[in-house]
Amino acid sequence: RRALMQGATASAGLVGLGVATGVGGHAAHTRQTEQAGWGHEAMVRFYGEHQAGLEQPATSFARYLTFDLRPGIGAEGIRRMLRIVTEDSASLAEGKAPLADSEPELASMPSRLMVTVGFGPELVRRAAGSMALPSWLGPLPAFGIDRLDPQYTGGDVLLIVQADDLVAISHGARVLTRQTRSFVSLRWSLDGFRHSPGAAPSGATMRNLFGQVDGTQGPHPSDASFARAVWGEGASTGNPGWLDGGTGLVLRRIQMDLDTWDEVDRPDRERAVGRRMDTGAPLTGEVEQDAADFEARDARGLPVIPDFAHMRRAHAQRPDEVFARRGYNYELEHGVGSKPEAGLLFEAFGYNPSRQFVPVQRRLDDMDMMNLWTTPVGSAVYAIPPGCERGGYIGQTLI
Ligand code: HEM
Repeated sequence: RRALMQGATASAGLVGLGVATGVGGHAAHTRQTEQAGWGHEAMVRFYGEHQAGLEQPATSFARYLTFDLRPGIGAEGIRRMLRIVTEDSASLAEGKAPLADSEPELASMPSRLMVTVGFGPELVRRAAGSMALPSWLGPLPAFGIDRLDPQYTGGDVLLIVQADDLVAISHGARVLTRQTRSFVSLRWSLDGFRHSPGAAPSGATMRNLFGQVDGTQGPHPSDASFARAVWGEGASTGNPGWLDGGTGLVLRRIQMDLDTWDEVDRPDRERAVGRRMDTGAPLTGEVEQDAADFEARDARGLPVIPDFAHMRRAHAQRPDEVFARRGYNYELEHGVGSKPEAGLLFEAFGYNPSRQFVPVQRRLDDMDMMNLWTTPVGSAVYAIPPGCERGGYIGQTLI
């Protein structure tokens, strides 16, 4: 796989290889006609049954931009905006400058740029009326651990701009923000980061800012269970038809207190999650991918993976509780409360967040050792509509 990746970065025009490449994540399904590998010329096809940005190996960077619809923008305005977002995002993904791009040279290095579009409840209401709302599209129930800042909570439109290069992201985000300015105003934006290609072994699971191996337990896009959990394939989702081929997203901005984590010794860090810090292996196993044995007890008869361990509390207790997780680290000089802030932009993708995510979050709210060092400060739920083909636009099934 490494040889393929090197070949792909060295030569242009490898469009249509149809081979999976894994960089900084698990090997994943590759969309047709995308350029394999990574590097400034690497491209991911924008068009398709599902939106780009969910099934591909995670990029090094992601910028999350959430917007509020301006007063008076109705169905027709939303449709015009979505056409612009679709066409510009597709051009950027193809390394072509969108119309009215004043820095077209910056568009020529897409570095796997992908844009994913999400809808908050107000957009769905204005576009198609309340009847079109999926039952779960709205604020999550309140959790005891939450310390939500209203500024980082909710939002009508979400754009996730991903790439392996921040210059490509900055340019793409600016184009999209400028082009949609008359329809929406920016609510918040935040950059997330993971390992860059080559900075961690190929296919390695990322580490978060606590140093933990984070993202081991799937489903990952290459797993058979991904399509059911995320697209709802084979499940009775209860979703309106316009969301077929789409999914739901819970986006949480979770502060991680690096200072108090510093005071915790290694055995307690490992017990807090139930996994080893060095390898990411469960405390009952040898290597990262070993299945956890939640029944195992030590010589004193105590559970090897403690009752309060994050992984035990978060582990799906019913098939419905399975969703796909992805995290991007973030770090700010001045965050909530004007203090330095570090944390995780936590994403849970699933066809019905009320059914899949909420019961797990409730359990973690009741008891989870990790709550000692983590605090949710932002939260939003979005519908991620299906993809579209060239000539169409994201959201065309809704409006
Ligand atoms: C597992 C960290 C928040 C759900 C894990 C693991 C780590 C981790 C290190 C073990 C490795 C892995 O399988 O990925 C964190 C951190 C968080 C956070 C640092 C916040 C800053 C959450 C939240 C949820 C969640 C909010 C859902 C409500 C899960 C699940 C697993 C997991 C489902 C897999 C459990 C299993 O083994 O079956 N997390 N997590 N995590 N986490 Fe989190």
